[in-house]
Amino acid sequence: MTALLQVDAVSARYGEVQALHGVSLEVATGEIVCVLGANGAGKTTLLRVISGLLPAHQGRIAFDGQAMHALPPEAIVRAGVVHVPQGRMVFTSLTVHDNLVMGGFTRPATDAKAGIERAVAYFPRLGERLKQRAGTLSGGEQQMLAIARALMSRPRLLMLDEPSMGVAPVIKEFIFEKLAEIRRQEHMAILLVEQDAEVALAVADRGYVLETGAVVLQGTAAKLQADDELRKAYLGG
Ligand SMILES: Nc1ncnc2c1ncn2[C@@H]1O[C@H](COP(=O)(O)OP(=O)(O)OP(=O)(O)O)[C@@H](O)[C@H]1O
Ligand SMILES: [Mg+2]
Repeated sequence: MTALLQVDAVSARYGEVQALHGVSLEVATGEIVCVLGANGAGKTTLLRVISGLLPAHQGRIAFDGQAMHALPPEAIVRAGVVHVPQGRMVFTSLTVHDNLVMGGFTRPATDAKAGIERAVAYFPRLGERLKQRAGTLSGGEQQMLAIARALMSRPRLLMLDEPSMGVAPVIKEFIFEKLAEIRRQEHMAILLVEQDAEVALAVADRGYVLETGAVVLQGTAAKLQADDELRKAYLGG
């Protein structure tokens, strides 16, 4: 069986700075895969390359067997890949409702109502706040909105960049439970970038560890949780 997402020996650079050095990874439908790594390891860069925001200068990315690395970002969203960026990036001056509508821009307008109902079913707090401006939501609620907005395009691969950043611990737990629920219900693939290895490995099936733009370790979540080096570096010993 071929994986839904196949990243094959991808390199990327910002001018002279090479941020990714031949990274390969795969995500299958129904899987949650995490990418761990310290600040500056290249995690965000990897997601930006997959979503077409930054070109790969080497390597190949295939989605559902089709080459994807030369497509513009909008075509990648239409193909079923959606990226929840680091720092959430909700439209703060728009209401929760209108943020959700924007998330469905690739879908027919008639799908919006059902899409909102479906997204809000995962995050009832958003349902109670549809008319509120997104900028007045708490950090955790904004993260929920960013995920709900991504669901509006009915992705087959949901990519999240540090969803736990700046979120209170209890909300963090809630968000990760929701990711597991979304994966089960929607039968999608999830690629999760996290610095918090403990929460990420608790929900993920497999993981990759990036260090200065290269994969240095990979395996099942159980294997990574038991790895001495990883424990020292990311799990506090
Ligand atoms: N716009 C940019 N211009 C130049 N260099 C960049 C740019 N964005 C990132 N880099 C560099 O690329 C490398 C990887 O950065 P990236 O943001 O992908 O790391 P990260 O793993 O997401 O880190 P963090 O955990 O802090 O978000 C770093 O060395 C960074 O300085
Ligand atoms: Mg980052």
